Amino acid sequence: MTATIASLKSNDPCWCGSGRKYKRCHKTMEGRVVPGHISPLRIVPPEIGRPSYADGPVARWSEPRVKSPEIIERMRRAGRAAAEILAAAGQQVAPGVLTDEIDAFVHEITIEKGGYPSPLNYGTNNPFPKSVCTSVNEVICHGIPDDRALVEGDIVNLDVTIYLDGVHGDCNATFAVGQIDAASQRLIDVTRECLEHAIEQVGPGRRFNLIGKAIEDHAHANKLGVVRDFVGHGIGEQFHTDLQIPHYYEPRLSTVMETGMTFTIEPMITMGSWQARVWDDGWTAVTVDGSRTAQFEHTVLVTDDGVDVLTRQP
Ligand code: MF3
Ligand code: CO
Ligand code: CO
Repeated sequence: MTATIASLKSNDPCWCGSGRKYKRCHKTMEGRVVPGHISPLRIVPPEIGRPSYADGPVARWSEPRVKSPEIIERMRRAGRAAAEILAAAGQQVAPGVLTDEIDAFVHEITIEKGGYPSPLNYGTNNPFPKSVCTSVNEVICHGIPDDRALVEGDIVNLDVTIYLDGVHGDCNATFAVGQIDAASQRLIDVTRECLEHAIEQVGPGRRFNLIGKAIEDHAHANKLGVVRDFVGHGIGEQFHTDLQIPHYYEPRLSTVMETGMTFTIEPMITMGSWQARVWDDGWTAVTVDGSRTAQFEHTVLVTDDGVDVLTRQP
């Protein structure tokens, strides 16, 4: 089959029998990430504290946006743990490594730190089946670890969240697999810069829409797109609270940041279309045109004099 596809010319009829030219049919799938095999569920030992959804539906309540000093102290520890796990997981990234092997690694070290891997069983109707999100190339976010081996030249985002002592810490980064092309490296660099520019906008009395403005301005100046379907979120005792932080400029968003608020900023930046489509697995979000996308995420705390990044690398 592979030999047949390789020998097909762009204008030949497609091998699938659609009657369309190959270039207008399955050629567009060449090089795309495809769904793989998902390994059996990993178990979290019973002595580890579990969020509500580990054993049932996601509990939702109106959690105060401004956190108490006691909760903030716990969030500092969860944030630091998430950052450490993300750094360690990033060191596992190499050609030939399966995304499922990265999942096993994140699962184990999260438990070693006394935490529960927040992605595991998150969601109510179609819960996420693994302990980390691994999003390769055109996958925007929420990629499910499977038996796909990373290939030299890929880019992969690892999104780590730990539930530790009753609160979540959430961060992600995009890593190069071996040597990558210059355009992919630039995408990664600009995306990291977008997050840093956004963090500079955080402070008490400032509007939430300054975050999206900073991200959008920097992405567009570099001829890159900004994903609109996924946003940053309030975080604390719940993984995602009702607070939403768009990564694009929303002039009508008038909400203002206050000291003690905790939320994530997690821009997804694209080389081509910023529009997203979700696979039949209900999670994996990809760019509609198959072009590459990168993401970086931090959990932040608004302080009297600006911002504390709770998931900053040690
Ligand atoms: N960590 C992701 C975020 O930044 C959420 C992942 S939800 C999961 O919000 F279920 F896919 F884990
Ligand atoms: Co995340
Ligand atoms: Co998040």
